[in-house]
Amino acid sequence: MNTSTDGPNLLALLGIDKPIIQAPMAGTSTPELAAAVSNAGGLGSLGLGAMNADAARAAIRATRALTGKPFNANVFCHRPARADAEIERAWSAWLAPAFAQFGATPPAAPREIYTSFLADRAMQQMLMEERPAVVSFHFGLPAPEVIEGFKRAGIRLLASVTSLDEANAAQAAGVDALVAQGIEAGGHRGAFDPEADDRLGNFALTRLVVRACALPVIAAGGIMDGAGIVAALALGAQAAQLGTAFVACAETSIDDGYRRALLSEAARRTTFTKAISGRPARSIVNRFTELGNDPRAPETSAYPIAYDTGKALHAAAKAHGEFGYGAQWAGQGAPLARALPAAELVAQLEAEMRASLDALRAIRI
Ligand SMILES: Cc1cc2nc3c(=O)[nH]c(=O)nc-3n(C[C@H](O)[C@H](O)[C@H](O)COP(=O)(O)O)c2cc1C
Repeated sequence: MNTSTDGPNLLALLGIDKPIIQAPMAGTSTPELAAAVSNAGGLGSLGLGAMNADAARAAIRATRALTGKPFNANVFCHRPARADAEIERAWSAWLAPAFAQFGATPPAAPREIYTSFLADRAMQQMLMEERPAVVSFHFGLPAPEVIEGFKRAGIRLLASVTSLDEANAAQAAGVDALVAQGIEAGGHRGAFDPEADDRLGNFALTRLVVRACALPVIAAGGIMDGAGIVAALALGAQAAQLGTAFVACAETSIDDGYRRALLSEAARRTTFTKAISGRPARSIVNRFTELGNDPRAPETSAYPIAYDTGKALHAAAKAHGEFGYGAQWAGQGAPLARALPAAELVAQLEAEMRASLDALRAIRI
C-alpha cells in the first residue's frame, strides 16, 4: 500500500507494509498483541511505561520470540513525581469511604510506582542493548544524549505530540516521526505539560502538524476502522495509530470488567479523569471517574503516586466483584470496538480501507 508524500516515507522508515500502528498500551498491550500486529504487516507496540528495565527486557525478548518483524517499544517521559504529603493525605481521605465499602483502607504511604524514563538509566541502557527497531516517547522527550545514542544505534524514534509547540520541539530534538494525538484518544493525554493542554481534535491537530513540520505524521485519536484510517491519510498523515480499536483483541491483558464495559452501552460515555493515575486520561465513565469529577474532590496526588492508591482501590473493589474502579481507558470511538484476534482486525481494517477508497473514487467534484 503506497502512502508516500513529499517527505520521508514512514512505512519504509519503520519497515512495515501497512499504515496501521497498534498503539502502545501500558497494562493492556502484550508481546502476543504486538507480534500479531507486526506479523500482519502493521507496527505492533509494547507499552513499557509502567515496567522496570528487567520486565521491559523480558517483554521485548518475548515479542522477538514471536516475530522477526519490527515493533515499537514505548516509554513514559514525564517529569518525575513531586511527593506532597498534605495533598496525598487529603486525596486518601477523599477515597477512604470508597475503600471502606470493600473493607479496605488507602495505602498509608503511596509510592511513585514507576520511574520516569527521564530518570531511568537502567531502562535507557537496556534499550541500547536490546535495540528494538522503534522506540516511542509519551508525555515528553528524553535528554538530547539519549536521543543521540538511540539514533546512532539505528533505532527509529517516534514522539506523541498534542500541539504545534510539542511537534516543533520533538522535530528539533531529532525524532523520525510524530504521533499527533487528538483529544478523542483513549488513555493518557501525551501533553508534555498537562496543565498547558491545547486540547486539539485529531482533524485539526493532524492538519496543523502536517503543514508545519517536515516529519512524517501518524494520526491518533478516535480512529476505529478503515474509513478512519483513510480519513487520516487524506489529512496528510502517513499512518494511523489505533489504541481503543485493539483493546478488546483476544491478545490483550484486560480484565473481564473492562472488556464488558468496552463492549456494552457504557462505552458510549468517555471522560477525562486525573483521579485514577494523577494525570488526565480518557476512560469509560465509571465509579472512579464519577468520584474524581465530583466538584468536592480535592487535588489528586501527583502522577504516578495517585496510581498506587488507584490500583489499590481497584484491587479491593475487584476482590468483591466490583469492576467500576478500574482504569478502563477508551477513546471517543469506543462503541465501534470489535472483539477479534489482532490479525483478523488488521485484515478487516485493510479491507475497509480498500472499500473506503473505492467509495471515494466514485465521488465527483
Ligand atoms: C488502554 C490504553 C492504554 C494506553 N497506553 C499508552 C501508553 O502506554 N503509551 C502511549 O504512548 N500511549 C498510550 N495510549 C494512547 C495511545 O497511544 C493513542 O494515543 C490512543 O489510543 C489513540 O486513540 P484511540 O484510543 O481513540 O485509538 C493508551 C491508550 C489506551 C486506549
